[in-house]
Amino acid sequence: MTDSELPAPPHMTPDEFRRLGRELVDWVADYMERVEELPVRSRSQPGDTRAMLPAAPPEHGEPWDDILADLDRVVLPGITHWQSPNFYAYFPASSSGASVLGELVAAGLGVQGMLWSTSPACTELETHMLDWMAGMLDLPAAFRSDGAGGGVIQDSASSAVLCALVAAREAATGSGPLVAYTSDQGHSSIEKAARITGVELRLISVGEDSAMRPEALEEAILEDLAAGRRPVFCAATVGTTSTTAIDPVAAIGEICRRHGLWLHVDAAFAGVAAVCPELRFVNDGLELASSVSTNPHKWLLVNFDCGLFWVRDRAALIQALSVLPEYLRNAATESGAVIDYRDWQVPLGRRFRALKLWFVIRHYGVEGLRAHIRRSIALAQRFAARVSADPRFELAAPAPLSLVCFRLREGGDEANQRLLDAVNESGRAFLTHARLGDRLTLRLAVGHPSTEARHVDETADLLLALATDVAKEPLQR
Ligand SMILES: Cc1ncc(COP(=O)(O)O)c(C=O)c1O
Repeated sequence: MTDSELPAPPHMTPDEFRRLGRELVDWVADYMERVEELPVRSRSQPGDTRAMLPAAPPEHGEPWDDILADLDRVVLPGITHWQSPNFYAYFPASSSGASVLGELVAAGLGVQGMLWSTSPACTELETHMLDWMAGMLDLPAAFRSDGAGGGVIQDSASSAVLCALVAAREAATGSGPLVAYTSDQGHSSIEKAARITGVELRLISVGEDSAMRPEALEEAILEDLAAGRRPVFCAATVGTTSTTAIDPVAAIGEICRRHGLWLHVDAAFAGVAAVCPELRFVNDGLELASSVSTNPHKWLLVNFDCGLFWVRDRAALIQALSVLPEYLRNAATESGAVIDYRDWQVPLGRRFRALKLWFVIRHYGVEGLRAHIRRSIALAQRFAARVSADPRFELAAPAPLSLVCFRLREGGDEANQRLLDAVNESGRAFLTHARLGDRLTLRLAVGHPSTEARHVDETADLLLALATDVAKEPLQR
């Protein structure tokens, strides 16, 4: 069979890619410019997006003009604009130009970096970035790769806690059912990790400050030991999802050390704040942690996904996750001189995520990243000052970072829910809620690079005006 007789799929030529790629970069840049004008939370109803899609895929390739047009027609109406300056929901998943370009290169190279030998630069750039980040955040030296520790990029903080728990389970000795601990404010990913691993999870109570009570942790551990169970793992949270409360990691770490538990510190949102020397209180107690995770894909301008995970003892993690089938054997692995990151995570395959982190760090420089964190915090404080100056509102929790929790004093959950719904339906801002104790609380998280003072001011104006409307409507109670 000659080449011309072979089936001929309509691959894009490099020249076509060059032309269309430029067009698409323009589309993304235009999106960045106009995203502020779009309703922040999608108004799409269930089934709306699918109703615009043909029932069957095209039999023949379609013109690119049609494909691009459908980005505006089909996709954008169903997008909640996480990159809007008025997105304040959950925690941010902020992107940046430098990161998007890193992602483009990663896709272009199309590397699958499961082993060092499948692309040495993919592994070594990642190891180096994790060491850079450990230095930038001033993590204890034990987490760097020049000792027994080291770091890896996971897809998410959820994967990080799962890997930590698997390593803790593997290292456990003795007999009896395994038990893990976190506070009742710990993230749902910890509960999921416990379910996946079959380890029992105890939720430890928190104090007024929403932080874990160390004495309650120790009581629970002693009770489990007395009952013949094996306490193996504790996840402390630095920056809880509801309020960015900070567990007393040093006190928890002492307890874990005494009883031989693996201490994982989940600093998914807050951990990157340590890039600023004045915010290094988020690192307190880390010298006692076995592992720690934080997400540049939340607050450090790297687009999802980029979750950093460091361990003090990489051998424990590798021991737990390494499976080497014949078809992956290679001389570099056998030499023991390289890292194979497939042994540090659940999946085999892995993306070249370090590129976008590298681009972001180099584009901003450490000072530029500090400026982003400080700016977010200053904007959050500005908003907090606005709502707390209005006697109808109260702050519901301390705001040590860039999350503000607040609520209407009067009208209970119903009034607060109505206010939240009214803001989100306006399309001008998007906030989410948490439940503190038994009370509904609104959360406003700042972190997008395009958020300016005028945005938080307008959002405060909007909330205060809508609060007046809410107060006029009779409550159902
Ligand atoms: C404290 C905390 N831990 C873990 C996570 C999960 O992060 P990921 O989406 O990276 O799994 C979150 C997400 O908001 C979080 O707030």
